[in-house]
Amino acid sequence: MQNFTYRNPTELVFGRGTIARLGKLIPADKRVMLTFGGGSVRRNGVYDQVARALEGREWVEFWGIEANPSVETLREAIALGKQEGVDFLVAVGGGSVIDGTKLIAAALLTDEDPWDLVLRGRAERTVPLATVLTMAATGSEMNSGAVISRYETREKYAFYGDYPRFSILDPECLYSLPARQIACGLADTFVHVLEQYMTTPGQSRLMDRWAEGILHTVIEIAPKIRENPRDYDTMSEYMLSATLALNDMIRMGVTQDWATHMIGHELTALHGLTHGATLAIVIGGTLRVLRDQKRGKLLQYAARIWGLTDGAEEERIERAIVRTEEFFRSLGLKTRLSEEGIGEETISEIERRFTAADDRFGEAQNVDGAMARRILEACL
Ligand code: NZQ
Ligand code: ZN
Repeated sequence: MQNFTYRNPTELVFGRGTIARLGKLIPADKRVMLTFGGGSVRRNGVYDQVARALEGREWVEFWGIEANPSVETLREAIALGKQEGVDFLVAVGGGSVIDGTKLIAAALLTDEDPWDLVLRGRAERTVPLATVLTMAATGSEMNSGAVISRYETREKYAFYGDYPRFSILDPECLYSLPARQIACGLADTFVHVLEQYMTTPGQSRLMDRWAEGILHTVIEIAPKIRENPRDYDTMSEYMLSATLALNDMIRMGVTQDWATHMIGHELTALHGLTHGATLAIVIGGTLRVLRDQKRGKLLQYAARIWGLTDGAEEERIERAIVRTEEFFRSLGLKTRLSEEGIGEETISEIERRFTAADDRFGEAQNVDGAMARRILEACL
C-alpha cells in the first residue's frame, strides 16, 4: 500500500424527508445563493421542498446551469453572486449543477476569469458550498472535483475546488429521473470504480473488496431499478453506491487509471455525448488495449465479479470484457463509437489534443495521444 492522506469533510445527510433540514444546516448569518439546472426540480417538487425548508430567510437564485456546465453560463452566476454579496452556495441538482457551483465558489473570491481557474486545476480559496442531490452518478456531492466545459472552444477539463460542507441525499428525489439518466448514472458509478480498481493487483485487499462490493451492488440493482424506479430501498442503494464510488474511500493507498474518463470528456466536448454514455463506449477499448498491463486485475475481476474461473487466461479476460459490455447494453447504452456515428476525424482530434498537451494518463502514465488512438480504434 502506498502512503496517503485521507480527509473528507462532507457531512452526508441521507434519507427520506431530509431536505426539510436544509434551513438548520446553513449558518444563519450567511447570504445564500441557490443554484439550479434547467428546471427538473420545479417539476418534481424538490424546489418546493427547498423553499419550504428555507422559509423565513432570504436567498438569491441562479437558474440554468446546463448538463456539462459551461464557463459561459457560470460567468453569469458569478456576476450575480458578486453583485448580491453571496457567501454561501447551495447547489440543487445533479453533478453538473454541483460542479458548476464549485467553480462559482472559487470565482466569487477572485477577479480572475473562471476559465483561468479551471486551467490552473486547483482553487485555494472558496466560498462554502453545500448540495441537495437530485441525480446519482458523479460523487460530486462528496468530493472536491468539478468538470467544466468551454463551449466556445469545445473543451472540457477537470478542476479541484472544495468539498461540500454538507450534502442532502433523499433517494425519493431520484424517482423522476428518466431511464436514460439512470443508465448513465449506473455506468458512471461502475466506471468510477474500475478507474480506481482495474490497475495492478496486490496493492490492497481492502480497497479491492470495497470496490468489488460496489460493482456487485450496481450489477444487482440495475435490473431492479428498471422494473421499479420508485422502490425506495433500491434507489437508496443506487444513490449511496454512486457517492461511495467517488468520495476518495476506495482509492486509499492504491494507483488509479482515469484514462477512460479523460478520453470520455473529449467525446463529450466534441460531440455533446452524455458523460456516462461515453464511458460505456470507451472502457471496453481501454481494457482490451491495456490487457497485458492490467492482466492480473482483469483475471481477478473476471473471477470475483463475473464468476469466470474456467478456461485459458486470455479467454477469461475477453469474456469478462464482453460481460462488462453486455451489462452496459442491458442498461440500454451503446458500446461502440460507430453506433454514435463517431470515427476517424474525432480520433485524430483527440490524439492531436493529447499529444499537444503532452498528456499521459493511466496508472502507468502511458496513455498518450498514440495510445488514446489505439483505445479509440478498439471502440469502433
Ligand atoms: O437541468 P435539469 O433540468 O435539472 O435536468 C437534469 C439534466 O438534464 C436532469 N435531472 C437531474 N436530476 C433530475 C433530473 N431529471 C429529472 N429528475 C431528477 N431528479 O438530468 C440531466 C443530467 O444532469 P447532470 O447533472 O448533467 O448529470 P450528472 O450528475 O451525471 O452530471 C454529469 C456531469 O458531471 C461531470 C460530468 O463530466 C458531467 O459534466 N462529472 C463530475 C465528476 C465529479 N465532480 O467528481 C466526476 C464524473 O466523472 C463526471 O466527469
Ligand atoms: Zn465519471
